[in-house]
Amino acid sequence: MRKVIGFLYKKALKPVLFKFDPERVHDHFIKAGHLLGKSSVTRKATKAIFCYQNDRLKQIVDGIEFSNPVGLSAGFDKDANLLQILPSLGFGFMQVGSVTLKPYEGNPQPRLYRLPKSKGIVVYYGLKNIGVEKIIKRIKGYGKIDFPYSVSIAKTNDSCTVKLRDGINDYFGSLEKLVNEGIGDMYTINISCPNTFGGEPFTTPDKLDALLSKLKSIKTQKPMYVKMPINLAWTDFNELLKVIVKHKLNGVIIGNLQKNHNDPSIKDFIPENIKGGISGKPTWKLSNDLIAKTYKEYQGQLTIIGVGGIFNANDAYEKIKLGANLVQLITGMIYEGPQLIGEINKGLVKLLEKDGFSNISEAVGTYHQS
Ligand SMILES: Cc1cc2nc3c(=O)[nH]c(=O)nc-3n(C[C@H](O)[C@H](O)[C@H](O)COP(=O)(O)O)c2cc1C
Repeated sequence: MRKVIGFLYKKALKPVLFKFDPERVHDHFIKAGHLLGKSSVTRKATKAIFCYQNDRLKQIVDGIEFSNPVGLSAGFDKDANLLQILPSLGFGFMQVGSVTLKPYEGNPQPRLYRLPKSKGIVVYYGLKNIGVEKIIKRIKGYGKIDFPYSVSIAKTNDSCTVKLRDGINDYFGSLEKLVNEGIGDMYTINISCPNTFGGEPFTTPDKLDALLSKLKSIKTQKPMYVKMPINLAWTDFNELLKVIVKHKLNGVIIGNLQKNHNDPSIKDFIPENIKGGISGKPTWKLSNDLIAKTYKEYQGQLTIIGVGGIFNANDAYEKIKLGANLVQLITGMIYEGPQLIGEINKGLVKLLEKDGFSNISEAVGTYHQS
């Protein structure tokens, strides 16, 4: 069934969808997913069609039980519309957001631009979201959620948060509200959104140190991760990791969008007026190199969530063998179709069997074993 859906998506639906404005298509998918998630009947039907389950994919990471290692990355479901439907689609976890203390209507359009030859998307949303309070209210309205989800927190994209102290207080305000309301199983501190007012102020060690010192004053037992930039040299990246380890965060998400429009992986012409970071295959190599180096240096100290350019089971497995405990994706699903999650999970089980592993956790970092 998944094969048929994948075939129809790629041959019939995608060619039509890709003729329309990407943001409109995205908004329609969010509305459809929100509706499907409302009723137990549609949730069950979606599960029967899309979801693949296997005990070999189950693992506990940072005290949380994951039914499989494949999550939805931050930015697809900015305002928590899909929490009820994503488990049925076969995801093992998801990231809401990025959310900010105050709502933001987003940067001027166009904010999404497809790069079909490069299998990527230029993203220029600039942290569009309805704000943390409305998101908390929406999630509370769902009742009990039996599905691990993280809330990704960023700094409100306006001139009032540009000063260091104001920026830190903005993150603090969001995290405090989420923790007080008991919303989120995990938290992600997004320091790497490339499309914001004042740039990325927390990608230097001293400023990241100041941010994490303040955030760690909020008492929570829930795991906390940092979403990392990928256009940093290893030495600079490693300086940030040292700060993250010093503050005893659980791990890192590697990583965010590719900022270099001239990267050799980009095969499409990008017009001058198209601004933003690039997702998909143009992130693949940078993210993999940083995952491998982080694993070698911090194995056992930092959980790694690998993101960037996953389009099939082999891609997900590659990141896991390089050192990722869990993986996430967005662009692969847009290019390949919603059946991709089940296909990846099924493919991972085959790859585990082939390599003689009885559980996904045994494959983590195996590229580095001599
Ligand atoms: C439409 C879109 C919006 C995104 N928004 C965010 C965001 O708000 N916060 C964030 O941390 N990452 C955001 N990202 C980056 C993704 O979470 C991910 O790191 C990146 O796209 C690489 O994964 P992929 O190749 O599977 O898409 C966004 C990506 C896309 C495609």
